[in-house]
Amino acid sequence: MTVVYILEKKAYKDIHHKELDTILRFSALINSSLNLEQVLDNAMKYAEEFMEAEASSVYELDEKNNELFIRLARGDRKEKIKGIRLGLGEGVAGWVVKNAQPLAIQDVRKDGRFSDKFDRITGFRTKSMICVPLLLRGKPIGALQVLNKKSKRPFNQADLELLNSMSQQISIAMENARLYQRLQEKYTNTTRELRITQRKLIRTERLAAMVHLVQGVAHEIRNPIMTIGGFAYRIKKELNHNYRLQKYVDIILDESARLEKLVREVKEFTDVQTATLSLENIEPVVREALKIFKPLARTRNVKVSFRAAKKIPLINMDPSQIEIALSNIIENALEAMPDGGLLTLRISKDTEHVIITVQDSGCGISSDKLDAVYDPFVTSKPRGAGLGLTMVHQIILNHGGEISIESELKKGTLVTLKFPLPGSANSGP
Ligand SMILES: Nc1ncnc2c1ncn2[C@@H]1O[C@H](COP(=O)(O)OP(=O)(O)O)[C@@H](O)[C@H]1O
Ligand SMILES: [Mg+2]
Repeated sequence: MTVVYILEKKAYKDIHHKELDTILRFSALINSSLNLEQVLDNAMKYAEEFMEAEASSVYELDEKNNELFIRLARGDRKEKIKGIRLGLGEGVAGWVVKNAQPLAIQDVRKDGRFSDKFDRITGFRTKSMICVPLLLRGKPIGALQVLNKKSKRPFNQADLELLNSMSQQISIAMENARLYQRLQEKYTNTTRELRITQRKLIRTERLAAMVHLVQGVAHEIRNPIMTIGGFAYRIKKELNHNYRLQKYVDIILDESARLEKLVREVKEFTDVQTATLSLENIEPVVREALKIFKPLARTRNVKVSFRAAKKIPLINMDPSQIEIALSNIIENALEAMPDGGLLTLRISKDTEHVIITVQDSGCGISSDKLDAVYDPFVTSKPRGAGLGLTMVHQIILNHGGEISIESELKKGTLVTLKFPLPGSANSGP
């Protein structure tokens, strides 16, 4: 009797050693990696080794759907059960999470809480199991489960204690991984936003410098062009029947008229440098801009679709400038559809903006040209001034708004304008 007692004591001490060793190795592992899959896999491997078990799994609670999904499965047939879910309360893991209590079952077939859902899929035969909840600040977030002792002996108190102490650290590791993932997503988003903002800033600065130069040049050439045009006209009158020279003078007149128009457009552009903002409803302005182009759309065989969401809030805007901007965008869209197509205008909102989209099914813009369309004098049209989008850009800027253009060759173009709601960070006046 005494001998047995000593042996048992010794065995118990051994177990303690083994347990301590497992926990120490496990702690080091948890703290050394942010890769949760790897942490869980190694942790459960230790647990299986310690308990001489055949398989193990980690469940995580999907709080939104009140379901458990398999975060990690170990064992020969693990692939088959990936993606399968358990309802809260379903099966042993479901019971353990729902009740936030551990459970050791020596013969699962005799326990009503056991569900053979996974066994049926994998062909594995669960006999005994031990399952402990993963608790974070007292709230269940999942469960650890170890299946079938290889030695056919029942799971014992030491197994349960080991799994319990592992569960505490795994809960924290899972939470850390979740936080880390959220942080990483935030970081990725912020970096992306920063890059977009930087590109916009560069574009705005480059445009401002170009516009300054263009305005200077336009101012300087305005009078000489008027003079050239005026004198050419007088020469033409003196050239009664010299038709050859008259043809030359006509060319001079034509070209100086074109330059005069350009200078006028630059002047128009100067007029939209600043805006007078007041709280207004944008819908009538969109309708008005569209109305002006309806006849042209009809002659071009372009179908027009317009829809405005309900309860579009007022925004700070300069209606005449918005009309100029929209007219330019609609004009471009119609010019891109010489053989007909579809023009779609929408007014919508999100939490911070009123959003206007103008979409056409026209020729599109190739991606290498997309960045330059805002630059002055960039045009693909024989008689275009290439100032339309430069002006639109300036107007949107005056409103603290944003413009983006997405386009695909031969498919069409989508122009999106976003105006800040009053009281949001960018809104004027
Ligand atoms: N909706 C559109 N579809 C296809 N190309 C477009 C569209 N809008 C603008 N573009 C391209 O951008 C260029 C610049 O437009 P814009 O500044 O309005 O000048 P313009 O209309 O005088 O050419 C256009 O010449 C055209 O090549
Ligand atoms: Mg244009």
